[in-house]
Amino acid sequence: MGSAAERWAELQSGRGVPPEILAQAPVSPWTHDPADFVAPAVPADTPSREAGLALVGPSGTVLDVGCGGGDAAFALVGPLVHATGVDRQQDMLDLFEAGADVRRVPARTVLGPWPEAVGEAGTADVVVSHHVLHNVVDLPPFLAALTEAAGRGVVVEMLSEHPMAWLDPLWVRFHDLLRPDPATVDDAVAVLREQGIDPEVTRWARDRRPPHDPTWVARRLCLPTDRVPEVAAALADLPPRTTEAATLTWHS
Ligand SMILES: C[S@@+](CC[C@H](N)C(=O)[O-])C[C@H]1O[C@@H](n2cnc3c(N)ncnc32)[C@H](O)[C@@H]1O
Repeated sequence: MGSAAERWAELQSGRGVPPEILAQAPVSPWTHDPADFVAPAVPADTPSREAGLALVGPSGTVLDVGCGGGDAAFALVGPLVHATGVDRQQDMLDLFEAGADVRRVPARTVLGPWPEAVGEAGTADVVVSHHVLHNVVDLPPFLAALTEAAGRGVVVEMLSEHPMAWLDPLWVRFHDLLRPDPATVDDAVAVLREQGIDPEVTRWARDRRPPHDPTWVARRLCLPTDRVPEVAAALADLPPRTTEAATLTWHS
């Protein structure tokens, strides 16, 4: 096996959907639904929030990469004086802007994929990126741009393994597709170490879990809605989705 970055890319590429299966998908299995990413009115008290608040200090600006509805940035309301949200989905940026308005946080948004959006996004005191790394194949430029954009430091939150790994037995069952092992937190940390960064890693159990009802799972599996009852039956045999999360923090 080559570098940690190559290992990450190989594991992530193994998560792709073969074109012949994708061609049959009634809707994209990749697009996130903004309704699933509304930031809570009262932020959860998590190690990521604690790490973010420590870096922001009495006041500071925040750049939220892969912001969704701004769960990561808006957990820092109080000392947060300005929030920039970057996302490749406009509907997520609309949600982020609405969240900033409600909280009276000055904000701006940048549409585009990271790290390509780094120039337009500019810098902030603190960069946060929650639940995005498992979407990324080429990790080194993604991580380097997070560090580059941060005046003080970076907080990354991720699940302990690829968030779709729990569905691997269903890919075998419905598509006869054997998935390779998923990338893990340790794999991401190894890539950071190749960049000379030794992050502080806090492992914890996440309360809030994204949806995983049979309709949502059928979409992820590229199956039509008439297969939802079969998916529901198959889900009953699966162990529950992991709630193990990790917060990775480093100074820039
Ligand atoms: C799982 S959601 C997490 C949203 C939010 N950070 C949270 O924790 O609730 C991932 C988000 O990252 C966005 N995303 C994924 N890869 C991205 C990339 N390379 N550049 C920008 N946005 C990205 C998706 O559009 C989606 O809104």
